[in-house]
Amino acid sequence: MNKAHRNIRPQIRQLDDACANRIAAGEVVERPASAVKELVENALDAGAARVDATYADGGKTLIRVGDDGHGMAPDDLPLALSRHATSKIDGADLLNIRSFGFRGEALPSLGAVGRLCITSRAAGMEGATITVDGGRLGPLRPEAAQYGTLVELRDLFHATPARLKFMRSDRAEAQAIADVIRRLAMAEPYVSFTLSDLSQDKPRQILRFDAAQGALFDALEERLADIIGRDFTDNALRIDAERDGLRLTGFAGLPTYARGAAVAQYVFVNGRPVRDKLLLGAVRAAYMDLLSRDRHPVVALFIDCAPELVDVNVHPAKAEVRFRDPGSARGLVVSGLRHALAGAGHRASGTLGGAMLGELGKGAGGSMGAGRYQASWPSPGACGAAQALQAPPQMQEAPALWAGAALESARGFRGDVADTPPVETADAPLGAARAQLHENYIIAQTRHGMVIVDQHAAHERLVYEKLKRQRAEANVPAQALLIPEIIELPPLQAAQLLELAEMLASLGLVVEPFGAGAVVVRETPAILGQIDARALIAEIVDDLADLGHSERLEAQIDAVLSRMACHGSVRSGRQMRVEEMNALLREMEATPHSGQCNHGRPTYVELSLPQIEKLFGRR
Ligand SMILES: Nc1ncnc2c1ncn2[C@@H]1O[C@H](COP(=O)(O)OP(=O)(O)O)[C@@H](O)[C@H]1O
Ligand SMILES: [Mg+2]
Repeated sequence: MNKAHRNIRPQIRQLDDACANRIAAGEVVERPASAVKELVENALDAGAARVDATYADGGKTLIRVGDDGHGMAPDDLPLALSRHATSKIDGADLLNIRSFGFRGEALPSLGAVGRLCITSRAAGMEGATITVDGGRLGPLRPEAAQYGTLVELRDLFHATPARLKFMRSDRAEAQAIADVIRRLAMAEPYVSFTLSDLSQDKPRQILRFDAAQGALFDALEERLADIIGRDFTDNALRIDAERDGLRLTGFAGLPTYARGAAVAQYVFVNGRPVRDKLLLGAVRAAYMDLLSRDRHPVVALFIDCAPELVDVNVHPAKAEVRFRDPGSARGLVVSGLRHALAGAGHRASGTLGGAMLGELGKGAGGSMGAGRYQASWPSPGACGAAQALQAPPQMQEAPALWAGAALESARGFRGDVADTPPVETADAPLGAARAQLHENYIIAQTRHGMVIVDQHAAHERLVYEKLKRQRAEANVPAQALLIPEIIELPPLQAAQLLELAEMLASLGLVVEPFGAGAVVVRETPAILGQIDARALIAEIVDDLADLGHSERLEAQIDAVLSRMACHGSVRSGRQMRVEEMNALLREMEATPHSGQCNHGRPTYVELSLPQIEKLFGRR
């Protein structure tokens, strides 16, 4: 820092507008995507029904946004370019903001750091155009223009070369621009959007979202299907909850639809896309015991409230907000999502079957060239006829015998095979158990297809949910070990574990000190049966260390319960009787969250008859 000597008194100066604008631009316009955000928000504030955005070279050389909104009168153009000039608030009430913009900073900031040209025409007025370059305003000129506004920004940051150096690759900037458009398009499903790349001679359309129709929830669903994918809306739950004057709506993906990174979490407050830590933290908390920590849910959530309950004027780019009551905002998100997820019961990602088919298709393609092979499959009818002609006579005569042999050989897998399922189980969502394969997979027949259950994963989830229920009702019932298990641990870890002894005891795990650097386990949760207490303790110690000290007690409890469930589950490799398998299926149907294991993996996949038929080329 260049500190003036105490004897030389520096002079206080009023900075000129151009300089003040450049400073403001530093906050408002961080990169090309922020310029796009400001311009598109202006278009939406002007009531546009369609917004067309274009960029070249990642937005560094050109950004153009056209809209069919209410436009500006010629006299408004120079005013719009001056600092703190806005038509959106009158300055009387900063707590009652209903538009994207209100600070009156975007256009003058953009004009300070690039070459800006605005052309606009309002109803009943002549069109006009004005330019501003590096803060210098050009003359206002009449221009034959369409109704609406076209803003063109060239050579962003040419006036601030330092900032130019911080730009990322064209591709990264282009992706950030697309992300801005996606977020705003989610906020405004009734508006059409396009985004095009003009870097090459021929413009290339990057995004196109046509105006959605219908009631808001349906329109939103249509828009989300366009943006995130039909996969998402097919595997998401509708959220609609209310609390303390805040309303939460939107869609939340099933845990089995989670992603490897938190890239598809969209949150809006009063229609404004935000990246708010409080809200994103609440989303994470809601899914906490449904996903392992490296999986991230996909959500599009909208919080709406009276404008005075939330301050949007916290951040120049308005990416963060401040709720008057942050606790109730967080609580609404956590409870709203949890409630919906619990209601989803055993439902796992419905597209898993499709994904599986895709995989199977690929497998066939490897050696045989699935495409050609498939194309030459005859129709099912032709197949039947051809088979009748070709099949050797003994085969035709002995279908019953053959089926019996199949049954025998299925028994040879050492699984159990059920005969005709009882009527009531055949109609149950997870169907009637027919066989167990490889001592871990239950095959069940449903009314319209089949499901394959990962018995270990399913059982783990059921035990976990039961443990949670027991804990919620009272303490988890424990059973004393015949011979208490003495476990040596590094002194620090032993001490850490014993600090939590009370909490562990409430979870059915009674641990006591046993000299320095050892603990003794006296009781374990009854529901787990005979377990390896030593292995369980070792893993719990690791889990707690992973969580760190700062995590809340609830998180620690969830981690311990989840680890216990893992130990108490039917490990793969256990044979089950048909009644046992059916009991497991029925319990899954009745248990919340049973569609995925504690790590967010599915506990079952479903294949519909049409999917199975497709697999065999019958469709
Ligand atoms: N696309 C547009 N259509 C109509 N009016 C616009 C448009 N863009 C900007 N304006 C006008 O210019 C003003 C200044 O815009 P801006 O600098 O972004 O500030 P703010 O959006 O905070 O009001 C707006 O208040 C609005 O009246
Ligand atoms: Mg604005």
